[in-house]
Amino acid sequence: MTTRGRSAESEQSAEVRPRYTELRGRVAVITGAAKGIGRGIADRLANEGMRIVAADIDKDALAELEASLTRDGAAVHGYCGDVSRSEDIAQLFVEAVDAFGGVDLLVNVAADLSRRRVLEHDEELIDVQFDTNIRGPYVCSQKAAALMRQAGGGGIINISSVGGAQAHYRGLPYDVTKGAIDAMTRAMAIDLGIYGIRVNAVAPGVTFTYRTEPYKDAPLYKEALKGIPLQRSGTVADIASAVAFLASEEAAYITGQVLYVDGGITAQLGPPGPGEIPEIDTNLGSHVERGI
Ligand SMILES: NC(=O)c1ccc[n+]([C@@H]2O[C@H](COP(=O)([O-])OP(=O)(O)OC[C@H]3O[C@@H](n4cnc5c(N)ncnc54)[C@H](O)[C@@H]3O)[C@@H](O)[C@H]2O)c1
Repeated sequence: MTTRGRSAESEQSAEVRPRYTELRGRVAVITGAAKGIGRGIADRLANEGMRIVAADIDKDALAELEASLTRDGAAVHGYCGDVSRSEDIAQLFVEAVDAFGGVDLLVNVAADLSRRRVLEHDEELIDVQFDTNIRGPYVCSQKAAALMRQAGGGGIINISSVGGAQAHYRGLPYDVTKGAIDAMTRAMAIDLGIYGIRVNAVAPGVTFTYRTEPYKDAPLYKEALKGIPLQRSGTVADIASAVAFLASEEAAYITGQVLYVDGGITAQLGPPGPGEIPEIDTNLGSHVERGI
């Protein structure tokens, strides 16, 4: 596949050589696929040869993704809809079956990412986030699991967050929804294992996307990265790699797990205190970037 016309963040995923031949021709439904991490996952799974059903609320970005994947020779079906609406989810899975005959993998990415202090947000944000971040993935998983049970198996991967395990400052109600996703991952994994359906979550830490692009040179952002053991933000390619691995047969005996792709954020008790911030060792940095 060429990388013609891709956004910078999706190029990170597209550059990776296909690794998992068993994924070729399989069908992946990805919600929130049009931008950011979802876009990186769509590009990576298409690069693995999967047929992609891309769902998103952003019509223009979705059209751009479809055009880009089609240009690169991938099979893609775009669906513009809202995961907080049951009727949209039902239609998404009708179209997935019409387009490609079934669903082998569901990746729940779409979410509302707003974060507030508990006394600073209204009840509407609770409803929006519970409907988008919890109910949406739940109902999508129900629909996908019903199809996968008929087909004899499949996989569901939920995109969670480090906020599901440890609270962000000003992290509400978002962190609550990600904790629920982690619980849902475990509960559905033990429920669906009998049908050969594996359910896992990938929990990103600080991940560089078009959202963070404007801050990349800001001193505060650079300082924050020093609190991450691997001394950098994650990339959409880092997250997409974990998704491809969990979707593959290499992960055949892994279910009910939350895989943290966070540069070590959740492994530490807290960020370094005053005077403990390590200077970035450029030598080490280059090794870290090469994934060693
Ligand atoms: N970016 C990070 O640093 C980070 C860190 C931890 C976890 N995450 C998680 O990763 C996932 C993606 O985050 P991102 O940074 O790429 O966000 P993003 O906002 O860039 O992308 C989210 C995508 O979902 C779509 N979307 C939003 N609401 C929708 C709805 N109701 N129905 C359908 N589509 C909808 C958006 O249009 C967008 O394309 C989220 O689940 C988020 O919680 C991100």
